[in-house]
Amino acid sequence: MTTDLLKNLPDLQTPRLLLRKLRMEDAEDMFEYAQDAEIGASGLWLPYTELQQSAEDIAETITAYESGKALDWAVEHRADHKMIGRINLGHYHRGDQRADLGYAYNRRYWGQGYATEAARAVIDFAFGSLGLNRVGAVVLPDNIGSITVLTRLGFQQEGVQRQFTQIRGRPEDLLCFSLLRAEWLP
Ligand SMILES: CC(C)(COP(=O)(O)OP(=O)(O)OC[C@H]1O[C@@H](n2cnc3c(N)ncnc32)[C@H](O)[C@@H]1OP(=O)(O)O)[C@@H](O)C(=O)NCCC(=O)NCCS
Repeated sequence: MTTDLLKNLPDLQTPRLLLRKLRMEDAEDMFEYAQDAEIGASGLWLPYTELQQSAEDIAETITAYESGKALDWAVEHRADHKMIGRINLGHYHRGDQRADLGYAYNRRYWGQGYATEAARAVIDFAFGSLGLNRVGAVVLPDNIGSITVLTRLGFQQEGVQRQFTQIRGRPEDLLCFSLLRAEWLP
């Protein structure tokens, strides 16, 4: 049942957004935000320097969809018909019923509630159809936008991984957040 769901990842609709599988045609829209140094640093990945990296990333994700190994959605702005970001559930562990939430958006669309709106749909899917018990997230301490999104959705901070990662050659802490099924569902 879950295997079928993973191999046929459903679209998720919100009032302003369509969350759907990545397509090769998304490469340019993805590169538009993936080359942004601040977005890469906040998202804990190296910014892309070439369009080809977006294309390779999407091709790998499409292959992973086929084996049910990518819980990864392009976030399409329904009115603009544009891919404005990406959201995923990583580190999926079926036995422990948990996964980690990740996301990144084009800065032209920041501050309008899109990250919160998309995350709400993915969390509904995670605790609903996918049957997870826990959704985690890690965030840099100065990423106020993401911390706001997580806390608004009810995530609780549960710890700090000290000097867990290197950002631009400097060790940085990561804040660990989580949301439990019982806290989300009525
Ligand atoms: C973090 C990010 C996803 C937020 O996306 P978004 O669509 O702007 O998020 P939302 O609009 O749903 O909510 C963000 C909230 O944080 C607030 N915020 C953002 N930056 C802030 C800052 N520096 N200080 C105070 N508040 C801030 C916004 O005002 C908004 O709150 P409001 O709705 O009450 O006004 C986006 O900035 C992003 O893609 N960043 C780069 C990648 C990244 O950080 N990914 C997450 C890794 S954990």
